[in-house]
Amino acid sequence: MRNIALGVSSSTGDEFFRSMVGYLSGTLQVDYAFIAELADENHEMAKTIAVCKGGEIIENFEYLLAHTPCGNVVRKNLCCYPVDVQQQFPQDRLLSEMGIEGYAGTPLFDSAGNVIGLMVVMSRRPLNNPELARSIVQIFAVRASAELERSRIEKTLRERTIELQRVNEQLRREIAERTRFELETIRAARLASLGELAAGIAHEINNPINGIINYAQILINKTDRQSSENEIAGRIMKEGDRIACIVKSLLSFARERKGEKVPVSIQEVLSDSLALTEAHLRKSGINLRVSGFDGLPEVIANPQQIQQVFLNVINNARYALIQKYPDMHGNKVLEISGEEIRESGCAYVRVIFYDRGTGMPADILDKVMDPFFTTKPRGIGTGLGLSISHGIISDHRGKLMIESAEGEYTKVIIDLPAAGREE
Ligand SMILES: Nc1ncnc2c1ncn2[C@@H]1O[C@H](COP(=O)(O)OP(=O)(O)OP(=O)(O)O)[C@@H](O)[C@H]1O
Ligand SMILES: [Mg+2]
Repeated sequence: MRNIALGVSSSTGDEFFRSMVGYLSGTLQVDYAFIAELADENHEMAKTIAVCKGGEIIENFEYLLAHTPCGNVVRKNLCCYPVDVQQQFPQDRLLSEMGIEGYAGTPLFDSAGNVIGLMVVMSRRPLNNPELARSIVQIFAVRASAELERSRIEKTLRERTIELQRVNEQLRREIAERTRFELETIRAARLASLGELAAGIAHEINNPINGIINYAQILINKTDRQSSENEIAGRIMKEGDRIACIVKSLLSFARERKGEKVPVSIQEVLSDSLALTEAHLRKSGINLRVSGFDGLPEVIANPQQIQQVFLNVINNARYALIQKYPDMHGNKVLEISGEEIRESGCAYVRVIFYDRGTGMPADILDKVMDPFFTTKPRGIGTGLGLSISHGIISDHRGKLMIESAEGEYTKVIIDLPAAGREE
């Protein structure tokens, strides 16, 4: 008995129960020994945790307790039917299928005294020593009860831990979302004030620059075509035009956009944008992959403005890809994909522009949408593309987000509210 107790006590959980039923059936020389837990609150079903048949562990099963000796056991009694148990429980099909004659079972209690399971031995012959069966079953039951309660608590703890991890993960996501929202609000406010400043400066520059261009034109007209004065006047005019052009985009960034918004197919806006850029991309050796646009809902938008955004984002990707791969390369690919997403109960159409070009260092990521922020050489970029794009997308109650890793990739993600899908 001491050996049995020692052997069993070294293990826990399923292994504990399996060794216990093995010892039980061996010690009492019975055909079956099992430990079961109550499967429902009303104590109508039991589910075995470990079953030993003829010295072997077999698969677990569930059974109904009504009209069985086990039904009596769970009503808090140790029950022993040394012979003819089938005659006493004629409706118990399991007993007759297994050909059981002798039965002894005892309930398993938790520390509050509630029945949580049962432990049973059964034999195809009458029990040869019912007294021994009673005592051994009772002794083992104390240990089995404790282990059953322990493993139940462990299971509850495990479930709680998983639940806590889930809640934790959700909180983390919500905090990240809130931080993103706050940053977005700060950026929108900063862009708005920069916009006002830019508009003011642009207005101030607009008149004098036109004056400069006009005076340069007068000089050109008045001087000899071959003279150096004529050439200098020509240069003044060219540079002046460049300033006028920048002022124009600056005004377009600052101006309130009142363009009419109608339901449009993003797929069509994208193909119009690609019609303008595809040849250029191909010439630069860039492979274009477009996917996911079939069957997307329409968006409420001003197609010209969205096209302006797409063109800028595509040009940025083209530039980054050429910078990274001046020659042909398998990674010189621009992937544009569309999908429908749901956020806070609203449907959005999401367009992702993904390029594996130069990427951006982390410290410039939150500056790239500022007006005039550019890393491109003078004359190539004005740094207004993304700030104008951001303004346009916000104006559409959408979002423009950028993910990037330096030297690896850039993803520009644009979400636009789907038409007629708000709840
Ligand atoms: N796909 C990209 N890959 C790497 N860097 C990018 C990408 N898109 C934008 N950037 C970075 O963001 C900066 C700002 O982009 P933005 O479009 O606002 O201006 P720009 O392209 O420099 O000039 P503009 O668009 O006015 O001609 C770029 O100069 C570049 O450093
Ligand atoms: Mg640009």
